[in-house]
Amino acid sequence: MYFDPMSNDRIYLSPPRLEGNERKYLLEALDSNWIAPTGPFVTRLEQALREHTGMPEAIAVNSGTSAIHLALRVLGVGPGDEVICPTFTFIASAAPATYLGASPVFVDCEMQTWNMDPELLDQAIRSRRAAGAKVKAVVFAYCYGMPGRMDEILEICRRHELPLIEDAAEALGSTYKGKPAGTLGDIGIYSFNGNKIVTGSVGGAVVCRDLAISARIRKLVAQAKENTPHFEHHEIGYNYGMSNLVAAVVLGQLEMLEKKVSDRRKVFDGYVKQLRDTPGVRWQVEIDGCRANRWLSAFFFGDDSGIRASELIAKLASQNIESRPLWKPLHLQGAFTENLFFGDDAGGSEVLAGVCLPSLKMVHLD
Ligand SMILES: Cc1ncc(COP(=O)(O)O)c(C=O)c1O
Repeated sequence: MYFDPMSNDRIYLSPPRLEGNERKYLLEALDSNWIAPTGPFVTRLEQALREHTGMPEAIAVNSGTSAIHLALRVLGVGPGDEVICPTFTFIASAAPATYLGASPVFVDCEMQTWNMDPELLDQAIRSRRAAGAKVKAVVFAYCYGMPGRMDEILEICRRHELPLIEDAAEALGSTYKGKPAGTLGDIGIYSFNGNKIVTGSVGGAVVCRDLAISARIRKLVAQAKENTPHFEHHEIGYNYGMSNLVAAVVLGQLEMLEKKVSDRRKVFDGYVKQLRDTPGVRWQVEIDGCRANRWLSAFFFGDDSGIRASELIAKLASQNIESRPLWKPLHLQGAFTENLFFGDDAGGSEVLAGVCLPSLKMVHLD
């Protein structure tokens, strides 16, 4: 019997759900003795990701963080450069810039989708360039899986001749005008971390259109070994390859993606029904032509709602239900006290008024 987290009494925020070929593929991988950071399931997963995204290249790696690091590295980000990042996201959207000696510059979100505000992005780029800064790239993160105002973001990046990395770590299965999240900019990344919609316990992927870029990423993933029989290295790379065992589980999960999206969307709709008549409650809105995977069901409770987020979190915890505050903005984190921020500095108080709720099983809030 394998461990089934769904049989646990506790209701988790975003537990893995094994409902496809994961077990079969994993046993196949074990039986084939491909216990390596390469192998048939890595190849099959990359092919499945190319088919899902329609992108010419997909590279499986060991985490979403590694994927962002690789993307920034191949785009030439280096010491002294600046990378524009959203503030309202997980730290891994911004941390990889610092691995390369660059500084994240943070941009606030807009209230409709909770994603990077295009006007503030434009302002940040112009202001930093006017100050003589070397702005090298933009990282856009799909907050809780929700697409943002992508046409505007893309137009701004093109106008300023800046590459766009889409941090679609949380957004596998979301679409913008029919295109999968992660396929609009120059490089897209996904995470298969334990709490993601598709998981292998760990893992990530990079997708891109430019074959020269993907060839470079493939080389850097495996310690930048030259194409020689012996170990020849002309530059420093990383050990970022995905295990064949992880790939077997991720592939099994990916085959069920559409069901996973529709299950999460139903849960989200259930919360909206519960909260529809409560004043002052806000949630992420799908703008025209986009479909969110609703990775997490997130709600903001204004003063007039009568709902205190901390009380709700405590009440759910007493019922053995996991919930969580919204992201604390990165520009307010101790790790980034020296970094610039463009936006309304709400001091993080808004964050304390929001909650991420269990997203695979609706719980009752009253
Ligand atoms: C927005 C975002 N970016 C990047 C990551 C990093 O992915 P990983 O945990 O696979 O390194 C995550 C999740 O963990 C994330 O939520």
